[in-house]
Amino acid sequence: MKLHGTMMVQNDQLYIGGMSCLELAQTYQTPLYVFDEQLARKNCQEYMKHFKAKENNNRVAYAGKAFLPLHMCRLIKDEGLYLDVVSGGELYTAHKVNFPMEKVLFHGNNKTIEEIQMGLDLGVGRFVVDNYYELDLLEQFCKEKQMKQAIYLRITPGIEAHTHDYIKTGQIDSKFGFTLTNGDLSECLSNFHQYQHLELIGLHAHIGSQIFDVTPFLDEVDIMMRLVKEIQECYDIQIKEVDLGGGMGVYYTKKDQPKTIQQFCEAIIERAAASCEALGIEVPILVIEPGRSIVANAGSTLYTVGSMKDIKDVRTYVGVDGGMTDNIRPSLYQAGYECSIVTKMRTGEPKQVTIAGKCCESGDILITDVDIKGIETGDILIIASTGAYGYSMSSNYNKIPKAAIVSVLNGEAQVICKRQSLEELLSLEV
Ligand code: LLP
Repeated sequence: MKLHGTMMVQNDQLYIGGMSCLELAQTYQTPLYVFDEQLARKNCQEYMKHFKAKENNNRVAYAGKAFLPLHMCRLIKDEGLYLDVVSGGELYTAHKVNFPMEKVLFHGNNKTIEEIQMGLDLGVGRFVVDNYYELDLLEQFCKEKQMKQAIYLRITPGIEAHTHDYIKTGQIDSKFGFTLTNGDLSECLSNFHQYQHLELIGLHAHIGSQIFDVTPFLDEVDIMMRLVKEIQECYDIQIKEVDLGGGMGVYYTKKDQPKTIQQFCEAIIERAAASCEALGIEVPILVIEPGRSIVANAGSTLYTVGSMKDIKDVRTYVGVDGGMTDNIRPSLYQAGYECSIVTKMRTGEPKQVTIAGKCCESGDILITDVDIKGIETGDILIIASTGAYGYSMSSNYNKIPKAAIVSVLNGEAQVICKRQSLEELLSLEV
């Protein structure tokens, strides 16, 4: 297992944030999400620095969908990032930590009337408008409230990025945004004068997630900058902000070779400058929306090993006390992960096993055929890089309570989300 962030091995034992993983498991029980705060902060700082947030006034908007407990939202606020929210729930989280609302971007392909009203009342900085329905609703509500709202239009740029089908978003056949190539966008722009209470400040596109190759992002930059020029020339609208979405890939297993945050940011900034120079336009304010690349490697999950089923000449199943309820990604996207036993980091007989979750579902497998040292019942197993889309996509399937999250930093641990009790599990039911 690759060590990330503050992970280190001493006397065969794994430590994160200066805390022994074994002790964390004993103190807080398992399954337990462990959040390496130092690494998450470092990633934020890298983005702010290399995307030139200060120098060029560019913006890094953390995609809250990846992981947004209150503690994380405060951290994002602290580090000076913007925030991308996609629901009333994420917006409410931001509100609860007094997140500066002008730094909030409100996304979503079907924001409800209540969510739109909430966004307007709280004063979110930018609505990222996905479709005509939303444009009409926003115009109507802003008129009633006698206000003007700054918006971005979400564009589907027609870029196919190489990633899993479910997390591809920029191609034409997508539920998101105004399509660039079929006249949908130009029609919208031609009629834009009718939206007197909306100010079109920017364009947004998001081409997909877990993308390693920087080329599709550079193509996206070119497309967006050409659009900025065209919109200025044909519709006399000055686009001041260009939001390129998120999607930078991260390391889960040996087959992943991600760019560093610095390489990724520099490539985008350079291309934007070159593209604008060639077009003879000023470089707009650039916005990116990283989610996974800020938190994925900063999160891990601890489990206790239970049943072991050795099917001779087939495989050995190792059952753990969590599974698809705390990490749906392997079942949903065939996502790969690495793991270790936290007390046998360097020693123990290697064995190939399959890590199975505890749900009544054959597809509830966390890792298939992984080599691991010295695994036995009662051991604490760690799966690394579960920080993004693990907790945020967790469920109560099979009435399994949600796991707790503990944040570790400089030898101290803090529970940032409590384990759900059985009573809490039933608390909404009558
Ligand atoms: N911006 C927009 C508009 C998005 O739709 C997304 C992700 C992001 C930013 C952040 O992308 P990131 O930097 O995290 O790749 N549940 C899937 C990922 C879905 C991503 C959805 N949108 C997974 O677990 O792989």
